This record gives sequence, structure tokens and C-alpha cells, in this order.
Amino acid sequence: MSNMIVGFSKLSKSEKIEWLLNTYFTNIEASRDLVKKYWNTDKKLQKLHDEFIENTITNYYLPLGVAPNFSINDSLYAIPMAIEESSVVAAASKASKFWLERGGFKTKVISTTKIGQVHFIYKGDFEKLKGFFDDVKPKLIEASKDITKNMERRGGGILDIELRNKTNDIDNYYQLHASFETLDAMGANFINSCLEQFASTLKNEALKNVDFNDEEKSIDVVMSILSNYVPNCLVRAEVSCPIKDLKSKDIPNPEIFAKKFKQAVSIAEVEPYRAVTHNKGIMNGIDAVVLATGNDFRAVEAGVHAYAARNGKYLSLTHCTIDNGLFKFWIEIPLALGTVGGLTRLHPLVKFSLELLKNPTAKELMQIVAVAGLAQNFGAVKSLTTTGIQQGHMKMHLMNILNQFEATTEEKTKLVEHFKTNTVTHSAVVDAIENLRR
Ligand code: MEV
Repeated sequence: MSNMIVGFSKLSKSEKIEWLLNTYFTNIEASRDLVKKYWNTDKKLQKLHDEFIENTITNYYLPLGVAPNFSINDSLYAIPMAIEESSVVAAASKASKFWLERGGFKTKVISTTKIGQVHFIYKGDFEKLKGFFDDVKPKLIEASKDITKNMERRGGGILDIELRNKTNDIDNYYQLHASFETLDAMGANFINSCLEQFASTLKNEALKNVDFNDEEKSIDVVMSILSNYVPNCLVRAEVSCPIKDLKSKDIPNPEIFAKKFKQAVSIAEVEPYRAVTHNKGIMNGIDAVVLATGNDFRAVEAGVHAYAARNGKYLSLTHCTIDNGLFKFWIEIPLALGTVGGLTRLHPLVKFSLELLKNPTAKELMQIVAVAGLAQNFGAVKSLTTTGIQQGHMKMHLMNILNQFEATTEEKTKLVEHFKTNTVTHSAVVDAIENLRR
């Protein structure tokens, strides 16, 4: 294979770029210029970003936007959002203002427990394993003291370790299922370090256990890793108001709006095809804040979607009720987030985002992120059940099309004005640009 390379990671950044350009690109000059255009002129800052990952060649920008006016438990926040989708920040800003005038968002952290597992194979008598585990459990905790002492001093640490018999699923398969409190840290490194220590203590103690025969002594650890499924690290965010107070410029008839909105949520509560898109809209808000605050959006995504399917069917993460004239809309989601460790001290824009959010604790950040998800879902379902989604989407998309055609500032002003009263479609924008330029 002619494109195969050995030792790519050992090349310098420029050598890597040259190899890529010569191997895969036709317009080498232009591609080199492009890659270099995205380098930061501040060499120290560029080096910091280069070292986040392996084989960095340049930076990939996402816009960092802000949705202001979020009232959360009566405190005001401007929420940073890193996202490429054009209508997300606009929708969040609209929803924040709408609810600011109607009592704001109310939130509560329900629980903060995280999970990690040592998966192992033991060939022998389960009762003997149980007896061994009961004896060894204090040693598992004791042997991890070097890892846990700082976390414990701050009030966190290992909460419990259980032995779980999984032999109904896979022959000879067992787990140490451990729970942790990691306070303001997302906790991945802490949990994984504890688990690897548990695994090593488990194996060593098994070898010394006189009650085990030779086969039982040789416990085989398959892997030790945290779980991104955190159904006991839960946060709730809610908005509510009397139906009549929903009246606004976009909602001339609040009774009809509330009924239709609730119907739309009910559909996502029973129909997986709709629930996935409904929840995708929620994740538009959640991921954007998770990313802006330097958290792991893949972990959050995986955990949230697993939670949406926790009863065996993938369903809506938000819910809506109408009782005695009161409209209530809420979300309950698992979020394992950190405001210390990871990128939080390293990435200058993450530090900026956290300061913008008043340097929240992890619990506060869970509440802010849940609000961003609920607000986003409110905006999407409101549009879907009233004007349809395309009106807002295409308005925002207008700028993308204009940029594609390299419209000047003057052209943009004229065309934005024109499309205030005309429907935005891709071909209508192209026609309008062509007309203007004729
Ligand atoms: C688009 O990114 C998100 C929506 O599809 C969400 C939804 O349908 O609820 C608008």
C-alpha cells in the first residue's frame, strides 16, 4: 500500500504536513496555506493545543457563542456554547428570555454517584469467592489509600465495592462493581486508578488465599474501567407557569399551544423514532455547554442515551404535564461533569467559559447544562408545533449560504433585509445574490 507510513508520530509537525500534502492533496500550496492559516500566532498557545493530542497538524475552530439571560434558581447566567449548528444559540437565547419573564428555570441535583467496574473471570465455587471477597474488601480499600487520600480529605472517595455474579450472562464472569463520589472532578482518572489498584490487589490476594484451589487462585482480570452510564448522577431542571402566561408574540393562543406542545412531548415519550430526534435537540444544548466547559461530550452522550433507553425502549428525556391550568416541562438526566482537572485548567477558553459561569462546582454545572438541554428542547418543540422548524433554521442558514458565496457586508445587509419578508430557501438565496450582482 503506497500510502502506508511507519513512524508518522515521530515526524515533526511540518514533516507530517508535508507527507500528508504530498500523499493526499493535489493543490499542495493552497492546502499548506490553509493548514498554516489556522495556526495560532501565539507560539505558546499553539504548543499548548498541539500537545492536547497526538499528531496535531493544525486547529479546528468551532464558534463559541453565548446565550444570556438564563435565570436558574433565581441567579442569572450567560451560558457559553461551542457548536457549529447555526440555530442553536439563537434558540437557547430565545428560550432563556421567554422563561426569564415566567419565573425562570428551577433545578436540583438528585444524586452524584459514579460507577466503575473490574471485570474478571473466576473458575470455581461462588460461595468461596463470596467469602474471599468479604475478607478482601477492606484490603481493596486500604491498598488504594494513596490514590484516595486527597479525594477523601475533600469529602469524596470510594463509596462501596460489591461483588456481582454475572455467570448467568457469561460463564465464570464476575465483577467488582464500585461506586464513587468524585466531587468537582469528572473522576475518570481517579476511578480508573482505583479500579486498577483493586484489580491488582484482588489477583494478589487470590493467589495467597488458602481456601482456593489452584484454578480458583488464578483470577483473570479482563479489564478495569469506569462506566459512563451514571443513572445515579442525576440532575433535574424544570420550568412551569400558568397556561395563560405562555401568551406571547409567537403564542397568541396559549391553551392551544400548551396542548399541542404536550402532545409533541407525549409522542416522544412513546415513539423511539421521534424520541431520538427529540433528544438530539436536547443534546444540541447539552453538548455545546459540555464542550465549552472542557468536559467529555462523548461520555455525556453515551450516558444520556443509555438512560433514555433504561426501561428497554428509547424514549424522551423531557416530560410535560398540564394540571389545573399549570404548564410544567422538565428534564431529568444523568451528567458526570467536572469543573476541576482535565482541560479545565489548561484550555484558556474553558477557563474563560467557567469564569463566565461564575466558576461553578460540578453540581452547579450539572444544573446549568441540564437547563441548556431543557431550553433547547423547549425552543425546538415550540417551533415544531407552531411555525415549523425550517423558518428559524433557514433564517440562520441564510448567513451560511451568503458566506459560501463570499457576500460582501453590503450584500449581506441588503439580503438579510430582503429575506425578512421572503422565504429562505437555498435556491431563493442564490437567485437573490445573482440578481443583486447583475
Ligand atoms: C435539529 O438539530 C434538532 C431538532 O430536530 C430537534 C427536534 O426535532 O426536536 C429540531
